[in-house]
Amino acid sequence: MAGSAQRLRMPEQTSSGSAKVEIDAIRKVFPTSRGEVVALNDTSLTISNNEFICVVGPSGCGKTTLLNILAGLDVPTSGEVRIDGKSIHGPSSERGVVFQQYALFPWLTVRQNVEFGLKLKRIGKVERQSIAEKYIESVGLKDFANAYPKELSGGMKQRVAIARAYAVNPQLLLLDEPFGALDAQTRTQLQVELLNTWEQEQKTCFFITHDVEEAVLLASRVVVMSARPGRIKSIVPIDLPHPRTQETRMSKEFNDLKNEIWGLVYQEYLEAKK
Ligand SMILES: Nc1ncnc2c1ncn2[C@@H]1O[C@H](COP(=O)(O)OP(=O)(O)OP(=O)(O)O)[C@@H](O)[C@H]1O
Ligand SMILES: [Mg+2]
Repeated sequence: MAGSAQRLRMPEQTSSGSAKVEIDAIRKVFPTSRGEVVALNDTSLTISNNEFICVVGPSGCGKTTLLNILAGLDVPTSGEVRIDGKSIHGPSSERGVVFQQYALFPWLTVRQNVEFGLKLKRIGKVERQSIAEKYIESVGLKDFANAYPKELSGGMKQRVAIARAYAVNPQLLLLDEPFGALDAQTRTQLQVELLNTWEQEQKTCFFITHDVEEAVLLASRVVVMSARPGRIKSIVPIDLPHPRTQETRMSKEFNDLKNEIWGLVYQEYLEAKK
């Protein structure tokens, strides 16, 4: 595992720092043919610089809606999100997004996928190539730089997505069930790698998952959302020491936290089924 944890070790670069995020009384209503769907109601949360927030909650409780609003891909019906005190209007290279289904451009190679955001940032060709090369190497895909996404396994595609997000050096990383589609072993490996990277780079992370164990391993705080309309039901601080490793999962503290959060989430699953 130590070897694989090296793999996502990101090269040094000038950091644009990490972001403080203020989610202020967000409400999101979707008009549909069946009437209005209240996806989020009165959702507020302040995330400090460098925090790793994991969000758990039943399907349909508004997690992706909240992430899309943070990414600037959607707008709230009311309320506001501020990043370092400024309200957000649209997507920005300061916010890197990783989706569950890899979302790589199938017609671009690994290298071109990783360079994509750098191109948008108008970084010159030579610098772009050198940044992409470093990040591709850091996720262990040097030999696949010229491969197309269809030639990669799920875990490899997700490594490309993470490299692409990190390459633009965002202040805030938004990850929507990034490991949800992976087999248990690859998932465990990528969790440790991502954690290792966060421990070094200390970017603000907002990570959605259905896996309570994953949330406890990664997070500084776990946010439990209620069944739709989504609100924040509880916030559980995870004070487990870093570096966190596979051994962390064995500790009593880890399992107590896991059981506590699972209990909170389960109540909401039952609510959502009603
Ligand atoms: N574009 C849209 N138009 C209409 N309704 C939407 C739209 N996007 C989301 N919704 C509704 O808003 C609610 C929240 O959806 P969202 O995708 O945020 O849930 P989620 O918590 O991410 O669920 P999951 O865990 O299944 O990914 C759902 O009831 C969904 O049907
Ligand atoms: Mg979702």
